[in-house]
Amino acid sequence: MKNFLKRFLPVGVRRLPIVRFLPRILYASSYYNRRYWEILKWGFRSREDSNFTYDLTDLNIQYLAWALSVATRKTYSEIHGYLQEARNDFELQRHVIEMARKPGQAYAADPRCVFGRRLGWYAVVRAMKPRAVLETGVDKGLGAVLLCSALLRNSEEGYDGRYYGTDINGEAGYLLCRKYRRFGEILYGDSIQSLKRFRGTIDLFIHDSDHSAEYEYQEYQTISGKLGRKAIILSDNSHVTDRLAVFSLENGRRFLFFPEVPKDHWYPGGGIGISFCVDG
Ligand SMILES: C[S@@+](CC[C@H](N)C(=O)[O-])C[C@H]1O[C@@H](n2cnc3c(N)ncnc32)[C@H](O)[C@@H]1O
Repeated sequence: MKNFLKRFLPVGVRRLPIVRFLPRILYASSYYNRRYWEILKWGFRSREDSNFTYDLTDLNIQYLAWALSVATRKTYSEIHGYLQEARNDFELQRHVIEMARKPGQAYAADPRCVFGRRLGWYAVVRAMKPRAVLETGVDKGLGAVLLCSALLRNSEEGYDGRYYGTDINGEAGYLLCRKYRRFGEILYGDSIQSLKRFRGTIDLFIHDSDHSAEYEYQEYQTISGKLGRKAIILSDNSHVTDRLAVFSLENGRRFLFFPEVPKDHWYPGGGIGISFCVDG
């Protein structure tokens, strides 16, 4: 288009805003057009209608490792190793795919196993060896089963830990079964109520339930007195609200945001809000 205008129109005309309008619009939309192709493919191929699954781009995985190495004070190589460990866990993949294929599941899920930003959650569990991991919002249990697979590996290395998931939906968590179930449990009911009842120290807290800013903040306030000395808080909502950043500021914690970049998927991506202790 640019060459065409150059060839056939005099400079004075080419510079007119009305003439430049179309090429500029075409150029800008070229950044988004492939999304429509991805939407079409997904429309035909996928059964998912929420909580979409996808892999991350290779570059994004590298940046995830860097971000987590800052928050956990571990090396890039160690964290990157954990991310790869989760991506290459074929037994876990088989488990997730098999469960997703089972007829009569309450959730529409694609028969494949990709974790997106949850890989970062996994790496934090592997790096920090927490004794108690609490995730609010379980849904199918993709995060739950991944976190329990990290706890399973930790236990093989001599570090015990337990997962607690909360969900208001009594059908949530079907992926958390078989050998992974030994490492965790789901507390059914409203998250805030479950958090209030929770006795014990939380080493890793993940917010992924009701994503209103008020509810998210209320969860942090509810667990604030139950956090371990080196506790890490992750938010699945920091691409939308600033609640974890604000909570971190109010409580003398550090905050980082990792934006995820989905691979071959139309979804623009969420991210991980990461709140950690300065001298943890
Ligand atoms: C985004 S999904 C969680 C995804 C999950 N963490 C994963 O890794 O796939 C949100 C979940 O939060 C649950 N939820 C919404 N409001 C809630 C509340 N007030 N208390 C507990 N769970 C809630 C929903 O039932 C839903 O399963």
